[in-house]
Amino acid sequence: EKHIDIVNIASLEQRVKDHMSNEKGAFGYIRGGSEDEWTMKQNTEAFNKKRIMPRVLQGIDHADLSTKLWDIDLKTPIIEAPSAAHGLAHAKGEVDTAKGVAAAGSIFSMSTYGSTSIEDGAAAAPDAPQFFQLYMSKDDKFNEFLIKKAVKAGVKAIILTVDSTLGGYREEDVINKFQFPLPMPNLAAFSDDDGEGKGISEIYAAAKQGIVPSDIQKIKDMSGLPVFVKGIQSPDDAELAIEFGADGIWVSNHGGRQLDGGPASFDVLPAIAQVVDKRVPVVFDSGVRRGEHVFKALASGADLVAVGRPIIYGLNLGGAQGVTDVIEHLNKELSITMQLAGTKTIHDVKNVDLL
Ligand code: FNR
Repeated sequence: EKHIDIVNIASLEQRVKDHMSNEKGAFGYIRGGSEDEWTMKQNTEAFNKKRIMPRVLQGIDHADLSTKLWDIDLKTPIIEAPSAAHGLAHAKGEVDTAKGVAAAGSIFSMSTYGSTSIEDGAAAAPDAPQFFQLYMSKDDKFNEFLIKKAVKAGVKAIILTVDSTLGGYREEDVINKFQFPLPMPNLAAFSDDDGEGKGISEIYAAAKQGIVPSDIQKIKDMSGLPVFVKGIQSPDDAELAIEFGADGIWVSNHGGRQLDGGPASFDVLPAIAQVVDKRVPVVFDSGVRRGEHVFKALASGADLVAVGRPIIYGLNLGGAQGVTDVIEHLNKELSITMQLAGTKTIHDVKNVDLL
């Protein structure tokens, strides 16, 4: 397949907008944030509040991006953030995303609201590590049904997203009267309601609104797998989640698509990492568009860094190859940043003190 030429990640947005010009609603849904998009903008700007002091004379002649999560070997600390409805971006949907992420030696996570079934996503890259992201339903039979499928498909962890008990108020979706034009096979497998032709608020209506700490243990018991709790912004919630059994903390504000007016995700990362104190792995996302951002997140306590929209943009522009190209571009920038900063390994980066 053809590579998509990437100069930087930020410029992909306009290319995708042009490419999807007949599908204004789909592009708006992918790009958009909630309300004034203040938090969304802060997410990327916040990285500028911290600086990397370059160390020279360190004899660093290349950077090694390889790392590990538990016993999973990864070629990069950059992973894919779970996101809904990849069929909006590309006909092959999550099948191509999973292939593209696998080719980069990273982790693909299937969303509950994927355009592809859990099984087909897993079969697309059978040897690569995958996670399953759960939007908990009010109906535990449905939760159990989905989790059983994910376990059978061989996923290595469940991501329990807790910041989306309803959908954020996304004005672009209102203006475009956006409704999902495609079915969601993971919903369809359980009931007649496959989500097709529904708006985001209707989709979330089936989700459990009042998620409580004991739900973490419930999902652990149902799955027998490690559970990441995704959508943590407060150190108190990180502590609470670990107390109630979380095997990983996923620091995220959903890319500024949920609560507007909250802090940039990067701004809350150091305090959360301090509370977690290496008891469990920390994944960070929201606003990452540069290898330099990845570096700063790792230096601020993240073990892995996830990207959402950039992956979907890569998928839209170039299918599986486009997804690989996005990760490899970020790898290239990260590699340059590491060498110029005087750090050879991901472990070295984690020990850097930012200014
Ligand atoms: C998301 N995100 C998301 N998260 C989740 O847990 N389940 C989901 O189904 C979705 N769906 C979704 C759709 C789209 C179009 C986007 C852009 C995002 C949030 C995602 O996992 C991640 O937190 C953000 O995308 C990170 O921010 P950036 O990298 O997009 O700035």
